[in-house]
Amino acid sequence: MRYFFLAFALIVTMVIGFFGFRGDHFSGTPLRLFPDMDDQDYIKTQRPSAFFADGMGSRQPVAGTVPRGFEPDGVQHAYGAEPSFGNSELYIDTGMMGDAYGDGMPVELGLSDDSTAGFLRHGEERYKISCMPCHGEAGNGKGTVAVIGIPTVADLMNFPKSTYPDGKMFETITKGKGLMGGYGYNIPVNDRWAIIAYVRALQIARADSAGK
Ligand code: HEC
Repeated sequence: MRYFFLAFALIVTMVIGFFGFRGDHFSGTPLRLFPDMDDQDYIKTQRPSAFFADGMGSRQPVAGTVPRGFEPDGVQHAYGAEPSFGNSELYIDTGMMGDAYGDGMPVELGLSDDSTAGFLRHGEERYKISCMPCHGEAGNGKGTVAVIGIPTVADLMNFPKSTYPDGKMFETITKGKGLMGGYGYNIPVNDRWAIIAYVRALQIARADSAGK
């Protein structure tokens, strides 16, 4: 019986620890069961600091910091005036043409013979950052994460244009699928299309080398 009460007390403490006091406002620095990097001895959240000359605890971005979606010279991203995360009903933002998945690169990207190579290189760079850790450099589903963690990463070669149109891949990147989380909040719309173009290039290269 003693153990029952001990276990009961522990469960009550844990439930309150996890779910209690959520959404309440505190003026003091919160008590942390699991300290994170914002919890430091040098500065308490929302408090002045004696450490910095201007007395501010929070810091301004370092001079010359480049915001996401901008080039270092302050010019906005090469593809699209501003990085869009998709909020229209157009094909470019949904991957849908009417009720069905569309295929092909959206006209809004303004791709021409001159810009396609650069677009593809951009897609390669973005693919290597956002997809390669799981799907692998060749897109065969054998990235580092797949090898050491999630064994069910899909082989992208199994998703050719004929059965898996570009619009469907756009939706998968945006919203995720099964065990794969969505990247709609992290990857701007134009970058998602550039990634799709690069995945298509990987598929063509593989089919070619397999003599298909
Ligand atoms: C954290 C690991 C991870 C990352 C990063 C990741 N994926 Fe995936 N992806 C998966 C897993 C796991 C699956 C299998 C999902 C399932 O079937 O449960 C998958 C499945 C897919 C599929 C097939 C979905 C279907 O309809 O069955 C496509 C296409 C795909 N990923 C594309 C991408 C692209 C493009 C990127 C980069 C923007 C990306 N993935 C990033 C883990 C990842």
